[in-house]
Amino acid sequence: MPNQIEPKSGEFTIDKNTIIAFDGSLDSATKCVVAGFASDLSKVTGFDITVEEGDGGKNTIFFKTNADMAGEAYQLDIEQKRIDIAAADAPGFFYAIQTLKQLLPAQIYGDSAADGIEWKANCAYINDAPRFGYRGMHLDIARHMFSVDEVKSFIDLLAMHKLNRFHWHLTDDQGWRIEIKKYPELTETGAWRNETVVGHPDNNEFDGTLYGGFYTQDEIREVVKYAAERQITVVPEIDMPGHMVAAVASYPQLGCTGKQCEVRTTWGISEDVLCVGKEETFEFVENVLTEIMELFPSEYIHIGGDECPKTRWEKCPKCQARIKEEGIKGDSLHSAETYLQSYFNNRVEKFLKEHGRKLIGWDEILEGDLSKSATVMSWRGEAGGIEAAKKGHDVIMTPQTFLYFDYYQSLDRENEPIAIGGFIPVDLVYNYNPVPDSLTPEEGERILGVQANLWTEYIPDFKQLIYMTLPRLDALSEIAWTQPQNKNWDSFLDRLDKNIQVYNMKGLNYAKHLLDVNLSFEVNDSDGTIDVTLKTQGKAPIYYTLDGSTPDMSSKTYSTPIKLKKTSTVKALVVRDSVESNITECEFLFNKATAKKISLDQPACVKYKYDGEKMLVDGLYGDSSFNTGRYIGFEGNDLVATIDLGKDTEISQVSVGVLCDLANWIFPAESFKVQVSADGKVYSTVSDQKLPVPAGYDGYKQERQVLTAEFAPLTARFVKITAACVKKGPQWHDGRGKPLFLFADEISIK
Ligand code: ACM
Ligand code: ZN
Repeated sequence: MPNQIEPKSGEFTIDKNTIIAFDGSLDSATKCVVAGFASDLSKVTGFDITVEEGDGGKNTIFFKTNADMAGEAYQLDIEQKRIDIAAADAPGFFYAIQTLKQLLPAQIYGDSAADGIEWKANCAYINDAPRFGYRGMHLDIARHMFSVDEVKSFIDLLAMHKLNRFHWHLTDDQGWRIEIKKYPELTETGAWRNETVVGHPDNNEFDGTLYGGFYTQDEIREVVKYAAERQITVVPEIDMPGHMVAAVASYPQLGCTGKQCEVRTTWGISEDVLCVGKEETFEFVENVLTEIMELFPSEYIHIGGDECPKTRWEKCPKCQARIKEEGIKGDSLHSAETYLQSYFNNRVEKFLKEHGRKLIGWDEILEGDLSKSATVMSWRGEAGGIEAAKKGHDVIMTPQTFLYFDYYQSLDRENEPIAIGGFIPVDLVYNYNPVPDSLTPEEGERILGVQANLWTEYIPDFKQLIYMTLPRLDALSEIAWTQPQNKNWDSFLDRLDKNIQVYNMKGLNYAKHLLDVNLSFEVNDSDGTIDVTLKTQGKAPIYYTLDGSTPDMSSKTYSTPIKLKKTSTVKALVVRDSVESNITECEFLFNKATAKKISLDQPACVKYKYDGEKMLVDGLYGDSSFNTGRYIGFEGNDLVATIDLGKDTEISQVSVGVLCDLANWIFPAESFKVQVSADGKVYSTVSDQKLPVPAGYDGYKQERQVLTAEFAPLTARFVKITAACVKKGPQWHDGRGKPLFLFADEISIK
């Protein structure tokens, strides 16, 4: 979303007579941008769009330098007879073109001539500049690698979203992926791992297949040039002194023990880091960085710095000698070995500075002493970024709480491709503000920008890479570019339609959660129904069934909330541009208690109250996890629930589902009582059971259990159940003497 738009009436149409013209003052970089646009335009329209110097007259897209404007800013004035574009520099012109593309039909992003398209853009005056100067996207190619063409396609997406930094994580424990002429073993040995862990590392299962590869320096140059043509600087990362197993496997003398190790085949953190005691290590680092600086014009050189265990350094005579020589001492804040990492960082920083470059690293580099001129990338939440800004460092915000695109996009993990963990849906990304409220305005100025990170442990191919990237990248784009007051989630959802068209056209495997049907419901105890509401992004029609059959375009179209009166499986999907969404599914199981009035004598605990007592009569059942929102939790209090069946009803069975999860202090009830009443005042007890308290883990699985009372048929209007929680944990359990939890999901009356 540009920061200032004034719509005007009418449209500009690109036709076979449209020309591109430019003012004589344009610099050569801008001329390249303009020539690239003309060539793209000719390719997709099939017209031969010419470029000429001069003001062009009518039916012209005219580019003119305005040296007074800020870098990256642009003005785009679209009138019926011509388009005028002004900017101070090539990036500004490039972003004006990106905005113009946003206003044209989706086919503008195509690879070949599209027939029958009217190339119209609505008239408007747009005056725009980015919120942040650093707008980044990261990609790890160590864990899994992607072809040069795939990396270029990824860069195309960054450019379309007006990002200007591609942070390329080139090396890690699982593979060294860049040719270094001086150290051929880095790619002979370090680029290859014998096999790869399957699934999460705790499975301890391996695929037995050699994996690896690397980019030659020519390929690296090709990518850097490709990115530069799209106004994107490639920020190279050589992660050090930790995450260096691939290098130590190639040159064992770089480690503390000197012992041969193998390129890592599983994920996580290794103790085999660079030895900081040896001068040879610094010689290696400087030689590698010298070749890196030749390949990457980026001012920032990223040295990683994250997750560096100190166990080898503690035992290494050379590292300890260095600590002594340099007079390094531990204090109440950090160990001497942590300050040894600062020593390493500061030496590398000085080297980069001597070569006109700037050090940037993950927020661990703040631990110990850090040169003021180093820039901090905050990944462990926002804390590192806040501390760094307060200490006067420049900061890029990339918190794992909002911007780790390797995290899950749905809570329904069973139906997702495996990911590292977490939960970062698009709206969480969208609502993130990179400048924390706790900073003063001056400190806030230190936040130079924002970046999302894509670690590829669980991203084996480009299809999955796109799935994790889109449409979270759309949200990132707007938090990086658009001023907070101009952001709006509903407007974002509407405008996303256009990009979705582009992704469909390009056959990209974007994640569709946002485009699926969102199901919500209410327990309507006045009508005795469950009222289901279906919503989705935009105005596309929602189709649904209630009998468990697969919905399609011939199914019922949703318009108003569906009132369920009996057991039903709701299945719904939405169709956009003939593309079906995933199916949203929810099964509601009815019994005589479902959607009836319910009240509790003792409150649930605040943390696990969720939607309150109505959850016990909503027709939904839990599984073996306590925190899915299907269970309501009690701590110290009993579950004492009264259900009003509304009229005299014949009943012979009452049950309640409870969770057994002893490790999480969730015990089944120690007693279960059922009482009935005709008037809600005088109750008679029909069943009262004492239940065993587990005497150990043996014989108890983490699972849902059902407590049931059966009795001869009787007539009642009110049913009261009491399921008592364990008030004092047994001696064998960690919760001994303390109140334990009781978790219940559903009451059933038959
Ligand atoms: C990181 O995610 N280890 C920077
Ligand atoms: Zn050492």
